[in-house]
Amino acid sequence: MNDPGMHDFLQKHFSVQTLERDPALLRKVLGMLRSWLITEGKHPYPSMPFDQLVRSFEDYSIPADGMEVDAFLDELHSSVLSHTAQLNHPMFIGHMTQALPWLTVIAEAFTAALNQNQVKIETAYASTLVEKQILGWMHRRVYQYDDDYYEKGMHAKSPAIGNVVNGGTVGNLTALAVALEQQLPGSRKEGIHSTLSHSGYRGLAVIASVRAHYSLKKSLATMGMGENSLHVIAVDQNNRIDLDALKRKFDELRRDNIKVVALVGVAGTTETGAIDPLQELAEIARQEQTWFHVDAAWGGALLLADQFRPLYQGIEFADSVVIDGHKLMWVPMAQGMILFKHSASLDNLKHNANYIIRSDSGDLGQTSLEGSRRFDALKLWTSFKVLGISGYTKLLTQAANLSATMISLIQNHPDFELTSSSKTFILTYRYAPQHMQQAMKALVDAGNMAEAITLNRKLNDLNAKLQDRQKNDGKSFVSRTILDFFPDPQGVTVLRVVLTNVTTTRAHLETILAEQCQIGSALLAGH
Ligand SMILES: Cc1ncc(COP(=O)(O)O)c(C=O)c1O
Repeated sequence: MNDPGMHDFLQKHFSVQTLERDPALLRKVLGMLRSWLITEGKHPYPSMPFDQLVRSFEDYSIPADGMEVDAFLDELHSSVLSHTAQLNHPMFIGHMTQALPWLTVIAEAFTAALNQNQVKIETAYASTLVEKQILGWMHRRVYQYDDDYYEKGMHAKSPAIGNVVNGGTVGNLTALAVALEQQLPGSRKEGIHSTLSHSGYRGLAVIASVRAHYSLKKSLATMGMGENSLHVIAVDQNNRIDLDALKRKFDELRRDNIKVVALVGVAGTTETGAIDPLQELAEIARQEQTWFHVDAAWGGALLLADQFRPLYQGIEFADSVVIDGHKLMWVPMAQGMILFKHSASLDNLKHNANYIIRSDSGDLGQTSLEGSRRFDALKLWTSFKVLGISGYTKLLTQAANLSATMISLIQNHPDFELTSSSKTFILTYRYAPQHMQQAMKALVDAGNMAEAITLNRKLNDLNAKLQDRQKNDGKSFVSRTILDFFPDPQGVTVLRVVLTNVTTTRAHLETILAEQCQIGSALLAGH
């Protein structure tokens, strides 16, 4: 039976001409987007307490009837946009997010409108090639093969040299899944238990530093290896994996007849930004005949500027490398890449079906863990095209300068202690008024560790409360974490900043530190 209202309903919701008939609606949409993106006069962190905001979302059923689009936009503004963290704000320097080039936001709109499904060429015609191209471009920055390699490797039907993934977590999972099948052949079909029982090994392990991202544990749990199969190695004073401890761990596992599936190096750790000694790790992995994976989800973007390349020496020996566009490449979430040194590696994941991803098809879905997949390659392709290597070099250099500024502001301030610095724009520090720093030094020099630990806990409490109060005041945002460089089992609570927002200036950093001093001294005075 025909619904007489159907025509109007379809016109209203499916015809883009609705926007032409009602230009005010289009202006409203664009105006809302624009006013969200502008940060002047705004606070970076929402002011309404979360418990209070929850009440706006206490309707437990889907609306029976739809509302007018205009009224919906008002609700979107009042219920959501007004209560978002303004991640592009120059005073929001606590996480791996930053102001974006506006064209990448438009690219997102194209991705949604085109709604290509990257799983197969039938639903992703040119977009398959866009994806292959960005993978090839990044692969070249990592592995530096010659033109001939990429002429073959970027061809529509050539074996995959990597996958576009939705971020570092799926990238790490993909790399470890490939490594497992390579190191324990047959496990993909037979399962780990059965393959292991025929292999002669007593168990499986993956090794990484204690600073590695928690997605490694998630991956191992998902793969059935278990979280405990991740063996974490201590770090040196620069937060890089301790190579002697690593070698001892290999000896121990060999003695216990445990097969090491992969050694993971981190190029830009989440908490401190440190880059592991990749060259040395590559050599150890080669000697131990294990897979070498580099988690460069954060730091890999620095390979876009030649001046940073020396920091990554050895990355070209990695069997796999994960790099996120949505972290340090200034594109919106979600966008990541997992790259493989040998294109045959991804055969370990290859799946085919009769109706799509046939073996002779060149469909990208043959080697991806995900099924239906967005055209997330578009925003990075857009950004590579409009910024180019020179644009990225400018952005990365500016981040390096901002980082250097913050280091010098902290080091020259009597009431702050720099607790870690890195070349990938992540720093940690703590608020410790000069008299407390002097007291701490005297206790440590005198070997009075019990009292030094008591003082450390006081500072931990102070910094945790400071970070909370600064966040809740909403005028600026830094994050916090706990590091283990001091012999207190509870560690050291530190403030953490990520200095990649190109709209952040020295004046913003000075204001943030001044606010921290003011909150810190108020807390010490009991307010
Ligand atoms: C080093 C590193 N690896 C992996 C990840 C996980 O990335 P995603 O959150 O995009 O899945 C992160 C996230 O911060 C990270 O810093």
